[in-house]
Amino acid sequence: MATTDTGFIIWFTGLSGSGKTTIARILEQRIRASGRRFESLDGDVVRTNLSKGLGFSKEDRDTNIRRIGFVAHLLERNGVAAICSAISPYRQTRDELRMMVGDDFIEVYADCPIEICETRDGKVEMYAKARRGEIKEFTGVSDPYEPPDAPEVHLMTNDETPEESAEKVLACLVERGYLRSDVLRQTAAK
Ligand code: ADX
Repeated sequence: MATTDTGFIIWFTGLSGSGKTTIARILEQRIRASGRRFESLDGDVVRTNLSKGLGFSKEDRDTNIRRIGFVAHLLERNGVAAICSAISPYRQTRDELRMMVGDDFIEVYADCPIEICETRDGKVEMYAKARRGEIKEFTGVSDPYEPPDAPEVHLMTNDETPEESAEKVLACLVERGYLRSDVLRQTAAK
């Protein structure tokens, strides 16, 4: 059983616009409030520095994911909570990270129909371009997305508010011993 000193990795996976970053931000606030050290690694941000210059071929995406996983693992080993949000479309690459990290790898599937993802703030123009073929190899449009078979947490972001989704992730972390139960809303309100 983990303790509140054990590091962990929250590994979001899901289509662009599925809510990964939004939910990660809420988790950051809640984990910060619990007094734990955390760090976030977001695909869009990582691609402007650590993974700058990489494209969206399978090879480049795998390199991006392995880099994020490598850094997250270093953090996790030192007791930090690492929150990673990248599409990470390939099951085998995610499973590779799970093998490397072990029990402290918490896979969170942000499940949302693509028809909804493409209407979300900041994503409309990009999906429209992908549909017109102006962006190649676009996940869910012209490139594969392989959902996880058995994620630790399965979020239905079309049916839940981001707060509800974050609460589900927190409940999993409490159940496994990484966070104290007072991080949960129901308990906090009592
Ligand atoms: S991953 O596949 O390597 O995990 P990552 O999460 O880092 O992807 O980056 C995805 C972001 O890049 C999307 O949210 C979107 O803003 C942008 N993007 C640009 N081109 C593509 C593409 N071909 N497929 C998916 N996302 C793309």
